[in-house]
Amino acid sequence: MNILVTGGAGYIGSHTVVELLLAGHGVVVVDNLSNASEESLRRVLEIVRKDRPDVKEIPFYNVDLRDRAGLEKVFDRSGAFDCCIHFAGLKAVGESVLKPWEYYDNNINGTLTLLDVMRKHGCKSIIFSSSATVYGDPAVIPITEECPKGQCTNPYGWTKSMLEQIMSDLHTADVKNNDAHPWNVVLLRYFNPIGAHPSGRIGEDPNGIPNNLMPYITQVAVGKLKQLNVFGNDYDTPDGTGVRDYIHVVDLARGHVKALAAVEKNCGLAVYNLGTGRGYSVLEVVHAFEKANDLKVPYEIKPRRPGDIATCYSSPEKAKRELGWEAEYGIEEMCRDSWNWQKNNPNGYKE
Ligand code: NAD
Ligand code: UFG
Repeated sequence: MNILVTGGAGYIGSHTVVELLLAGHGVVVVDNLSNASEESLRRVLEIVRKDRPDVKEIPFYNVDLRDRAGLEKVFDRSGAFDCCIHFAGLKAVGESVLKPWEYYDNNINGTLTLLDVMRKHGCKSIIFSSSATVYGDPAVIPITEECPKGQCTNPYGWTKSMLEQIMSDLHTADVKNNDAHPWNVVLLRYFNPIGAHPSGRIGEDPNGIPNNLMPYITQVAVGKLKQLNVFGNDYDTPDGTGVRDYIHVVDLARGHVKALAAVEKNCGLAVYNLGTGRGYSVLEVVHAFEKANDLKVPYEIKPRRPGDIATCYSSPEKAKRELGWEAEYGIEEMCRDSWNWQKNNPNGYKE
């Protein structure tokens, strides 16, 4: 299939472009490089060409999704797209609380422009990067897709929740209007992506001090940060620290390739959790990281972080049943590959 990947230079996008090209799909990337560098795509090509020397280039456009004219040009020059995998968006939870307008403008307006340009060019299939954050504080664990969406605690989360609604409405309207080719919309709710490509060539390259657990741990391990602050040890969890469903980014990337197969069969509107179904506490992750890499990670218990919930992990059964997808990597590989990326690229792509 010919796939438009928005945000394809970013963390999850770059790993997905690898898997798409290895699976034989054609890829065009659009990214405004607001949180990425073109170097990631150069390295993607290097990884892919080891198995697929016939892949000569990855067409790339430095375009902001809100730039309608720029986006039109991408469609005009690329031939027909069969599907768009839509990663592009701002994603820092804390920043979204301080800059809500920027988040709503970028994520909502960017996506509305994309959807409009897509339908005008006859492409009505989209796979969207959603998040477990749309469940809010879930009443039942493990979280299934039937679990009602909850109250988000930040504007970032609301953009995901609203965009899910907008895309679902497009599909529903087509069905009501007896459209012969209704929108295919696949909403993928990611749990906590960590890890990096096993080659150590691509990985997560956060700006400034990381907010998320794994990049913080790797920066402590490499000596950039003094110690990990563990946000709370008085939650109702086995060791009192927060429990999350960490998933290797390569597994997550492969989930998109499986979702494409569903789109090819005109799946209509579909929602899938992409997680492992297994929760790990903060301290379990710290200890798994220390064991996998034979390192010490100094940490201190600090107060809870506002907005955090105690426990969040998925039921991945629906994706297994309907997409034939399940995570293959465990916490050991996630810790190994996160560290492999960090130690080989202490300054990310900036060297
Ligand atoms: P990322 O920041 O590495 O990738 C997003 C990419 O989109 C970046 O390369 C950025 O430059 C680009 N971008 C942002 N706004 C754009 C715009 N207006 N026009 C064009 N390009 C734009 O983030 P990621 O971790 O790879 O996340 C990818 C997607 O998955 C995001 O939508 C994110 O919200 C979602 N998600 C991420 C996580 C996570 O923990 N990483 C969890 C759940 C969902
Ligand atoms: N944590 C620490 N210290 C840190 C960072 C995190 O103790 O320095 C703890 C948190 O309190 C939490 C756990 O580690 O218990 C995971 O925190 P992350 O910030 O790594 O991830 P979150 O679960 O808070 O959120 C992430 C993304 C969201 C996304 C969500 C679900 O940041 O965008 O996963 O996919 F919505």
